Amino acid sequence: MTKFARVVTAVPIALLLLVCIGRGEDPAAKLRSDRDGLALTPPMGWYPWNEFGQEPQNEELIKQTAEALIRSGMKDAGYTYIGPDEGICFSRDASGKLTSNLARYPSGLRGLGDYIHQQGLKYALYTDAGTHTCSKAMPGTKGHEFEDMKAFAEWRADYIKIDWCNTTGQTPATAYPKLRDAQLAAGRPIVFSLCSWGEGQPWKWAAPVGHLWRTTEDICEPGKPNWAAAMKTVAANEKLFAAAGPGHWNDPDMMISGMRGLSEAQNRSLFSLWCMMASPLIAGNDLRSMTESTIKILTNREAIGINQDPLGIQGRIVRRDGQAQIWAAKRLFDGSRAVLVFNTGEALAQVQVTPADVGFEESTSLYVRDLWTHQTSGPQAGSIRVTVAPRDVALLRIAKANSFPLPPIIVADSYRVVFHASGKSAQELTKATAVKNKGNSELALWKVSAGLPSWLSVTVAQSGKTQTFSNKVTAAGLAKGHYHAVVKADNREPISGLPMSALYYDVDLEVSGAAGGPASN
Ligand code: GLA
Repeated sequence: MTKFARVVTAVPIALLLLVCIGRGEDPAAKLRSDRDGLALTPPMGWYPWNEFGQEPQNEELIKQTAEALIRSGMKDAGYTYIGPDEGICFSRDASGKLTSNLARYPSGLRGLGDYIHQQGLKYALYTDAGTHTCSKAMPGTKGHEFEDMKAFAEWRADYIKIDWCNTTGQTPATAYPKLRDAQLAAGRPIVFSLCSWGEGQPWKWAAPVGHLWRTTEDICEPGKPNWAAAMKTVAANEKLFAAAGPGHWNDPDMMISGMRGLSEAQNRSLFSLWCMMASPLIAGNDLRSMTESTIKILTNREAIGINQDPLGIQGRIVRRDGQAQIWAAKRLFDGSRAVLVFNTGEALAQVQVTPADVGFEESTSLYVRDLWTHQTSGPQAGSIRVTVAPRDVALLRIAKANSFPLPPIIVADSYRVVFHASGKSAQELTKATAVKNKGNSELALWKVSAGLPSWLSVTVAQSGKTQTFSNKVTAAGLAKGHYHAVVKADNREPISGLPMSALYYDVDLEVSGAAGGPASN
């Protein structure tokens, strides 16, 4: 039995033991993600701040970006979360309730969420833990934690980034847990992203609070990508490798790859570093005007496979050789290993990567897959010679067998299913939504969680790598009004057997006319 196989079989046994030890003592229950199964691999998506700052964020920009994300192939590569950053521009009305700015977001923040869900994308929103957001243009959550988290749930957010401006007298270790409680009370599953830029050292305590936490200051000022600042960010984030894992990630900020002023090699290097560090892959560039080179980099599925690996290990620097850094210690779900050789210097780097660097015996015969040229070499024993251009990288996957499976990448037609029922005699309605796996493993059927309302039933059928969720609504006996349910389904990655991030979507039912009357789609 390989070391890897031993670890995999040890996991269920360890879990069983933990369950047996007794309630409340399960250390794994300390993780926020244990409650909701969210973000078991690093979240992927797009946020506007790095490129646009606060202006001109509005509904049009977000919709155009969603379209660009789909058109460019980024959605199929796994990018899902999208929405406004501080340009969200809500205000608080006299009753204390958050209200949308209809001049900037004519559909309202709920309408924008519905649009995003209908595209098969998920909705990311922004707020602040203090009295105001950073520009002071918007109210923060302080003193309004419960009502604000209710508003984000009503707007159907799937992800909330909570900034740390205007927080005099507050501490991250108390403010964020309060917001977590408020968000859980609101009842909607949401990826919870702490953004205190490392203040309060969230990597030490935030795994039960959120799914990811910023480890560093902003990677750049809006519109001004900065290589030196990015290198500082990487150096700080690298040291925190031990804190990362499924459902709890170090976040070195949104990416700058693809922003104006960076070379192709720099874009590739930064993207590879984010993949290797198991960092959230939140693109920060203008997706509407990407070059072919940027699209190729951001949608490189083999690199993304390293980032989305179910084991969720954050790679780190295991050795330096002159100006080159050798990043490894990243075992992958199939027993292969990821290696990154990053040449930080101005001259060509020639490096020998040894099997020991990667965690294999010296005599092991190995296959080497180059994740940027998409070529495999080997089998070979001994050191692997790697030549890397200045400020460029070699991103490799090394395995004993000539097989490099990609972990699952889940892409949905839509995350919102809408029914209208009306009339006199009861009728059943069915609508389907398709969920595809763009990785290359065969998934078992998604398992829908119990607890759906009596008017809704869901069945799942499989055809190849597409699974179709059939949602059946029975409006009989329902009073006129609006009904809403969130469907949750779970699955496991078939090679490692590890749980995958839960799948969630919304079902809306509008019943008009006589209760239980005939219904129409
Ligand atoms: C902070 C965050 C940024 C962005 C801005 C908005 O600086 O770190 O990512 O959200 O606030 O003002």
